[in-house]
Amino acid sequence: MKRDFDKIYDRHNTNCFKWDLNKEIYNKKDVISMWVADMDLPTDPLIEQSIIERAQHPLYGYTFRDADYFQAFIDWQNSHNNWIIKKDWLLNSTSVVTSLNLIIRTFSQPEDKILIITPVYSQFFVAINDTGRQIVSSSMIEKESEFVMDFSDIESKLAQGIKLLIFCSPHNPVGRVWRKDELLKLTQLCLKYSTIIVSDEIHSDLIYSESVHIPIASLSPEVSENTITCISPGKTFNVSGLSISFIIAENEELREKIRDTFLAYHLMAANIFGITAAQTAYSMGNPWLQEVKQYLQVNRDFIIDYINLNIPLIKLYKPQGTYLAWLDLKNLKLNQDELQLFLVHVAGLGLDNGTKYGEEGEGFMRLNFACTRQLLEKALCQLKNAVNKLIEVDFKFEKLNIDNQKIDDCD
Ligand SMILES: Cc1ncc(COP(=O)(O)O)c(C=O)c1O
Repeated sequence: MKRDFDKIYDRHNTNCFKWDLNKEIYNKKDVISMWVADMDLPTDPLIEQSIIERAQHPLYGYTFRDADYFQAFIDWQNSHNNWIIKKDWLLNSTSVVTSLNLIIRTFSQPEDKILIITPVYSQFFVAINDTGRQIVSSSMIEKESEFVMDFSDIESKLAQGIKLLIFCSPHNPVGRVWRKDELLKLTQLCLKYSTIIVSDEIHSDLIYSESVHIPIASLSPEVSENTITCISPGKTFNVSGLSISFIIAENEELREKIRDTFLAYHLMAANIFGITAAQTAYSMGNPWLQEVKQYLQVNRDFIIDYINLNIPLIKLYKPQGTYLAWLDLKNLKLNQDELQLFLVHVAGLGLDNGTKYGEEGEGFMRLNFACTRQLLEKALCQLKNAVNKLIEVDFKFEKLNIDNQKIDDCD
């Protein structure tokens, strides 16, 4: 059975972050919500079916992950990413963010320095701050229509003595899929300065046709020994609510330390439906994944064309992976608070605030385009109308009456 991704699923009243928290987040109920990174598109029917079948057996006691579960993941990494991993290298976790937090606690002490390459996923900041470690950030630079790492800056930061690099590959929010030469440079520097790499590869299955994801640990045995990779089926199959994820560490010493931390918090336990979903996903989910990726790629290309043609004041580099568009709105000449108010109350859009991703995010907003094309078209049309209003000579931001602002919607 194929999914019809144009079909609209009303997610209201499902307690989903994306649609049921608009009032709390934007102080407005009826914005088009395009922030948190999950999809408005339905998961693979095979996953849905496997969960229903499992639910029909009404005993939901303690459950372990069997050999077939791990094999499905191992085979997936082999066939999708050419990455040969062994079962012994795998650890279980509930979520990637849980893993990142516990890995930081395991391999560093308060006040230790942890490097991130910014702008980057907001929870990297939260995890480092909440554990009392110091954030050291290296800003990406813009070069030839993409964001790239600044290796001389990274080297100067690593030379300060950095315990861990928390790396995002592919990169949220800028949508980069890192090329081999970039990964090689980065890993050589980490090896040179003895910095452990923690690679968050949660978006690694959502790559568009021009790019190829290379798991950083697959670069060489040396790099694999120095890397801890965190992955989950959450983004790929839109099952983040099922709380299941993997950690891959070839290095036995690193792995055993992580295992000890997880055991100490009793975090190896599993949710039955998460296990069922992950196993089905990795053993049978490829056809669905190819379909959803095609849909997302058309959405991505649609945004790029639409913005270039209709809202040229907004700048956007083509995401190579992820379903996230990193919109540069600096030409609108609004400060970040004004930008947020403008988008919510004039455009009727709930986007993710760029400054959550670091100071480089000033003037940016992240738009999640994993929604029906119809909704995406409506959202972009509202954005166009709002920007047109903003550049009218008599528009005064100070006079914006947010309670009575009429959205020029595009139904
Ligand atoms: C880079 C990255 N890592 C991790 C997560 C969240 O992962 P999890 O739900 O498994 O904690 C997200 C969600 O947006 C993400 O973008």
